[in-house]
Amino acid sequence: MSRMETKQAPYQNILCGPVLVSWLHRDKESDDIFDAALFDEEKLHAQTLLSKVKRSEFIRSRWLIRELAEEKIPLPTAAEGYPIWPEPYIGSISHSVGHVAVTLFRSPTFRSVGIDLERVSRMKTIIEPRILEPEESILLNNVLSDQSKFSLNHSREFWLTVIFGFKESCFKCLFPLVKKRFYFHDVNILKINCQESTIEARIKDEEILKMSNIIKVMGYFYGLSYRGEILVFSSVVV
Ligand SMILES: CC(C)(COP(=O)(O)OP(=O)(O)OC[C@H]1O[C@@H](n2cnc3c(N)ncnc32)[C@H](O)[C@@H]1OP(=O)(O)O)[C@@H](O)C(=O)NCCC(=O)NCCS
Repeated sequence: MSRMETKQAPYQNILCGPVLVSWLHRDKESDDIFDAALFDEEKLHAQTLLSKVKRSEFIRSRWLIRELAEEKIPLPTAAEGYPIWPEPYIGSISHSVGHVAVTLFRSPTFRSVGIDLERVSRMKTIIEPRILEPEESILLNNVLSDQSKFSLNHSREFWLTVIFGFKESCFKCLFPLVKKRFYFHDVNILKINCQESTIEARIKDEEILKMSNIIKVMGYFYGLSYRGEILVFSSVVV
């Protein structure tokens, strides 16, 4: 595949705070045109993925990363699932039913980055207690009643998706640094700024605080409508 051909595969860029997220929606070219971006072992790995959607996400994400790097950078996966970025790069990957989002930086811009892509239609308010502490639900109530000041009229599901994506981004950003798993209730939201599309939080786990030396985590979100579907992009950088 020539570079001219790959350039025709459209991906879009959105700015999620300081993080440029590139994303490729699912209903574009067949995966054949992306195949050449894969190393042989990745082609073999792709074949082991039984779900067509998962296979497509894997192939497209690797293609997109190499398109952004403008070189065929190796991207092995650690036993814990995170990509091992070759120097001087750091990045993050997210997929959602065939949509693929990636970000790539040349370090040392940031120590680490995590991004997430979620569909609002997937969110159900019944899972709110799994994602939020009671005091975070109060914060969410305040966001819902205050958002009209900023001409916003989002649903509870939308804001829950924002918080869910933020916490997942925190995990993807911090796990490779601390190598310790943490969960939704370990991330304590302090502030949601509707106008700036930012979230501030602290990690409650003392060990992670010590290991990372990060007191507060700052996250960013960006919502867009794509073919009647609301997608929420999130990013966290440290
Ligand atoms: C890592 C995890 C957050 C992925 O989220 P997901 O919504 O299933 O999937 P996404 O498509 O958004 O992201 C998948 C990407 O995450 C990255 N990833 C996987 N495991 C990771 C880890 N341990 N650390 C950092 N990044 C990881 C990979 O790049 C993966 O894509 P790839 O397999 O193509 O390389 C999730 O599977 C997980 O392990 N969760 C446990 C911890 C958790 O949920 N905490 C709650 C938030 S605090």
